[in-house]
Amino acid sequence: MITRRTLGAGALGVLAASCAPAPNFSFPAPRSRQFPQGFRWGVASAAYQTEGSREADGRGPSVWDVFPAEKIYDRSDASVACDSYRRYAEDADLIRAASLGMYRFSVAWPRIVPDGVSAMRMMPAGWTGVNQAGLDHYSRMTDALLERGITPYVTLFHWDLPQALQERGGWAARDTAQRFADYAALMSEALGDRVKHWIVMNEAAVHTFLGHVLGTHAPGLADPSLIGAVTHHLNLAQGLGVQAMRAGRSDLEVGTTLALTPSRPSPGVFLNVPAAEGFDAVWNGAFLDPLLKGSYPEAAQSFLGELVLNGDLAITRQPVDFIGVNYYSPAYMRFDLMSDAHIASGRVPDGVELDAFGRHIDPSGLWEMLAHLRDEYGNPRVMITENGCSDAFSAGPAELNDQFRIDYLRRHLEVVLSSIEAGSQIEGYFHWTLIDNWEWAEGYRSKFGLVAMDRESGVRTPKASHAWFKALAVTGLLDAGAER
Ligand code: GCO
Repeated sequence: MITRRTLGAGALGVLAASCAPAPNFSFPAPRSRQFPQGFRWGVASAAYQTEGSREADGRGPSVWDVFPAEKIYDRSDASVACDSYRRYAEDADLIRAASLGMYRFSVAWPRIVPDGVSAMRMMPAGWTGVNQAGLDHYSRMTDALLERGITPYVTLFHWDLPQALQERGGWAARDTAQRFADYAALMSEALGDRVKHWIVMNEAAVHTFLGHVLGTHAPGLADPSLIGAVTHHLNLAQGLGVQAMRAGRSDLEVGTTLALTPSRPSPGVFLNVPAAEGFDAVWNGAFLDPLLKGSYPEAAQSFLGELVLNGDLAITRQPVDFIGVNYYSPAYMRFDLMSDAHIASGRVPDGVELDAFGRHIDPSGLWEMLAHLRDEYGNPRVMITENGCSDAFSAGPAELNDQFRIDYLRRHLEVVLSSIEAGSQIEGYFHWTLIDNWEWAEGYRSKFGLVAMDRESGVRTPKASHAWFKALAVTGLLDAGAER
């Protein structure tokens, strides 16, 4: 937990901070609207949000299959989702039709190791306890992409832990990190001849907090005492996973994706400032630092206790080939007397612009996090692995003339250009997402796709943004749009 002591220390700093000028969230406009030669374009998705076919070909249950329906806004489930397990070739056609060169998708771990534990490498025979039908599916999908000239970027963990592993403690148990490393090794062995780009984790911070502290995501635990164990075991799993993949093959580009979120104090009392600093440490720092610096931020030490064993930080610190940045909006935090950590999510300042999903639209937050990587973390190579916005919440059809989305993308891509001009090594951009899909606790009421889907028939219809994104991918030239 973030302790009172940490907060107290921060509070002293705040007296100074409160005399300082208000933070400036501005950023320079790009000098050029032309993306560099070789900049790559793609779309991102996740297995559980798109595949459906949860019973097919020997897949085991994941934590999301048993997550209570009452916790999903519309009580929907992902049993069909976009039906992409069966329609992946059609999806690949839509990616190709937008002239996009990359597809980020995730592998469902419970399709590969249905019981989470029994995968074992037997020499010289190879792996046992692995569901070959699951591997075959991703192999076919990889081929479908490559045949269309699309480079796969494969995420290994996008939150769908095998339920059997959860029953053995899930990420609170250290052994889960080893099980993950085995799964990572076997995936790189199975697909590494054709899949050269890997993303080890997706947004470990979101999984830690929403899944284990707030209980709004699977596995639905609301137990703040788990923060340390879940954070550290996810970091450890990531390090072990990178090592295991590299041990098997030397020709892979291995990165990982974080939900990099600027943490800002809510308007109000000055104690909101240390609350925002504390949140930054546990949300951003507790995942960036072990990976890129081999340490944990001071604010995280108190909840890690004895969990970090000798040698662990040498494992978490891995020379990854790129950092995947997911960016949607900043977080506003406040001091909260009632909670243990004294930190809670706070009010967004008046007058800020919200998207229809209720998220703050603020491209300066992307600038801030990219500058943070440049200045504090040695300027790693970066892929933007998610960015996008939803339609207004609705059970009805999607907005096909989605000019708001085009505007959102244009404004965030201006930041990408400015950041490249400022020295960031950003090599590509994935839009979240290809097809309107199942948005976790929001069910089907949010829609982030470049392509709409009729949930009855599964028929896909490209939106205006699909054509706009294609023009951008073909020319690399970001149009200026209308005056705002
Ligand atoms: C996340 C996930 C995606 C979401 C997307 C839209 O960032 O939460 O990686 O699975 O669907 O971000 O909210």
